[in-house]
Amino acid sequence: MIYLDSNATTPMSPGVVEAMMPWMTEKFCNPNASYAGAKEARKAIEAAREQVAALIGAEPDEIVFTGGGTESTNMALKWLARWVGRKTGRVVTSVIEHSAVLKPVQTFEDVGYAVERCPVDAGARLDLDAFSSACRAAREGGGFASLMWANNETGTIQPVADALIHAKESGLAFHTDAIQAVGKIPVDVREVPVDFLSLSGHKFHGPKGVGALFIRSGCRFEPMVRGGGQESDRRSGTENVAGIVGLGKAAELARLRLEHDPHGRVTGKLRDLFEERVVEGLKGVTVNGDLIHRLPNTTHLSFEGCEAAGLLILLDDKGVACSAGSACMTGKMKPSHVQKAMGFSDAKAKSSLRFGFSHMTTEEEAERAATDLIVSVEKLRRVQGGNTGPVAIYS
Ligand SMILES: Cc1ncc(COP(=O)(O)O)c(C=O)c1O
Repeated sequence: MIYLDSNATTPMSPGVVEAMMPWMTEKFCNPNASYAGAKEARKAIEAAREQVAALIGAEPDEIVFTGGGTESTNMALKWLARWVGRKTGRVVTSVIEHSAVLKPVQTFEDVGYAVERCPVDAGARLDLDAFSSACRAAREGGGFASLMWANNETGTIQPVADALIHAKESGLAFHTDAIQAVGKIPVDVREVPVDFLSLSGHKFHGPKGVGALFIRSGCRFEPMVRGGGQESDRRSGTENVAGIVGLGKAAELARLRLEHDPHGRVTGKLRDLFEERVVEGLKGVTVNGDLIHRLPNTTHLSFEGCEAAGLLILLDDKGVACSAGSACMTGKMKPSHVQKAMGFSDAKAKSSLRFGFSHMTTEEEAERAATDLIVSVEKLRRVQGGNTGPVAIYS
């Protein structure tokens, strides 16, 4: 398989598997017990907390381990909604958030919160003017804001630092879903002082089902999951020791990669090589999203006269794994909410694919996938009788 779906998930690094293995076999003690084996597990959890904190410039006690990215976003947003209260509560967010934000926000709206989902431009980047006026409108009654750091479908990086300034000027608490950004580009909560930040292990070569919520020291927080008081009473439940150790190791490896390559050039070169080959080899290709503010690992392409559903099948036959829109939308070939927000026509939305690279992708894979894609598009166009349109346009 040539795996080009790294925004859906990533393979675990060998170092992560190695670090986790003892905690899935002989080291099984409950970290909340008092004997030596338990203390060792506790120590491993605290070491992982330091590794995760170091990746995002946080203090270890600002990191709460969770059951993944979705849980982190829900913990932050549900607390913020409770804290703000429904009578005057306003929620400022964007139209292109992941369902892990949009769905909880919908439940707030259902019970009376005023929700402002700010628009984006054709490149899927936030309309900051709309965001700032939504924040100002929330100033009186209070509220909170949530903006993703990078979009999962297009890779567009959002102006989080500027949005945060607007939110703070209006006294709003601020959460960012940084699940697609952490581990791929520098994310530092000292430079961009958000109140809450969600991250997820499996997006940067760690295990699935484990993530973290950053809660800035001094921010009030009450838990969503109550019970035995683990994670300093911020997320109860016996800790997933192996998962947490794996997340910690993945964070350490990502931090080292970013230290040497802060712009993700290693991965970006492969993405660019693939993109160049495809754009040179085919007519009627559009590269979507903001090409300046873009994750180095992502390309989102549309192929005129060619349905993505068919392309996915042909590519799968050749062993190339990629995705149409967000992974969660796959199977439902409706334009995604992100594509709609970017102003895609139905035809364009149905002819778009997302390719996600990582440092584990090889140059040979990028080259071969480009060739396989070109052959598949040409074949489908012949079958579907689509027109090849103008030469590649960047949008
Ligand atoms: C932007 C974004 N937020 C949230 C999530 C959910 O994360 P998890 O799969 O860890 O629950 C994803 C995963 O696709 C994502 O891309």
